[in-house]
Amino acid sequence: MFPDFSLESLIPVMMLPVDESSEEAEVEEEYISRYKSVEDLPGVGPATAEKLKKLGYTTVESLATASMKELTQVLGDKTAHSIVTEARKQLISIPFMRADEYLKFRSTIERITTGCRKLDSLLGGGVETQSITEFYGEFGTGKSQICHQLCVNVQLPKEQGGLEGGALYIDTEHTFRPERIAQIAKNLNLDPEKALSNVIYAEALTSDHQMYLLDHAASKMSEHNIRLIIVDSLIAHFRSEFVGREMLAERQQKLERHLHKLMRLARAYNAAAVVTNQVMARPDAFFAEAVGPTGGHILAHISHTRVFLRKSPTPHIRIAKLVVSPSLPEGSECLFKISEKGIEDVEAGKERR
Ligand SMILES: Nc1ncnc2c1ncn2[C@@H]1O[C@H](COP(=O)(O)OP(=O)(O)O)[C@@H](O)[C@H]1O
Ligand SMILES: [Mg+2]
Repeated sequence: MFPDFSLESLIPVMMLPVDESSEEAEVEEEYISRYKSVEDLPGVGPATAEKLKKLGYTTVESLATASMKELTQVLGDKTAHSIVTEARKQLISIPFMRADEYLKFRSTIERITTGCRKLDSLLGGGVETQSITEFYGEFGTGKSQICHQLCVNVQLPKEQGGLEGGALYIDTEHTFRPERIAQIAKNLNLDPEKALSNVIYAEALTSDHQMYLLDHAASKMSEHNIRLIIVDSLIAHFRSEFVGREMLAERQQKLERHLHKLMRLARAYNAAAVVTNQVMARPDAFFAEAVGPTGGHILAHISHTRVFLRKSPTPHIRIAKLVVSPSLPEGSECLFKISEKGIEDVEAGKERR
C-alpha cells in the first residue's frame, strides 16, 4: 500500500466536496436553498415555530433527529410527521452545518447493545447512532453474527439497550439468515414473527446495485422507523469488481460516495451504521497485527469506530479489539461468545485467550 498524501485524505469527511455531476447534487442545491430556518418548513407557521422553540428545536437540523413521539404530542400526528420528514430530507443532502448545530445533534446520539456487556463498554456503551462502526476480521470471527444480533437488539425497549426501531440489512455475501433472527429474538422473549417484520432485507448483487439500494433507502427508513443500517460486507463487491491499480481510483471514489450516503442516512435518521470488512495480509506489519482491514484510506477516514475481531483458542469465544475510536481508548480488548442464543458475555473463569 502506498501512503495517501492527497488533500482529500487530510480533510475530515464532513468537508469533502460532493460530486457536482450527480443527481444528488441537484437535489442538494434545491434543499439547501429551500429551508434556511424552521419557519421555512412546510406547515410551520409562527405558532408552531414558537412551540418548537419551546421544545428546543430551533434549527432544521435539530428537527431531523427529533423525537417523533414528543412532537406528535405537541403538534399532532400529521404535522409532526411532515415537519420531521422534510427536515430529514434536507439533512440527507446538506454537506455543511454550523458547529453549534452539529453539537446539538450529537447530544441526540443513542446506543444499541451488542448483547455482551464487555463489548458494549469497549464501544462506550454500545454501537453509536449517527456514525459508522466497522467490524473487521477473518472469515468466521463473528462479524455477521454481531450484525444479526444488532438487528434484534435495536428493536428492544430503550431500558434494555434497544432503540425501539427497525433494521435495514444490505447483504452482499448472501449470509443473512432470517432463521437466526428468529432464534435470537426468541431468546430475548420477542415475538420472532414481529422481529422479522422489523428487519428490512436486500441482497446487493453488484457494487452498483449496493449503491443503488442505499441511494433509495430513505423512504424505507421512515416507513419502518429504521434505527440501524447494516452493510455486510461493505467492500466485497468493490474488491472483486475493481481489480488492479488502474481501477483503484475509481473504486475508492465510488466507495467514498457510498460511505457518504451511509453517513448522511445515519445522521438524518439518528441511526447506527454498521459495516463489516474483510482483512488482507499486511506484509509491512511486523510487530503490529499481521492483517489489516481492506478499503484503504477512504474507509479509514470515514469509518469512525473500527473493531478488529479474531478467534481465541477456546471454541465459540472471540476477541474484539478497539482499533480506532474518536473518543475511546484505542487498543483495549474484550472477549465475547457466539452461542445459540446469539452474542453473549463470557462467563467468569472461561477467559482463556
Ligand atoms: N445458530 C448458531 N448457534 C451457534 N453458533 C452459531 C450460530 N450461527 C453461527 N454461529 C457461529 O458463528 C460463527 C460464524 O460467524 P460469522 O458471523 O458468520 O463470521 P463472519 O461473518 O465473521 O465470517 C461460526 O463459528 C458459527 O459456528
Ligand atoms: Mg459474514
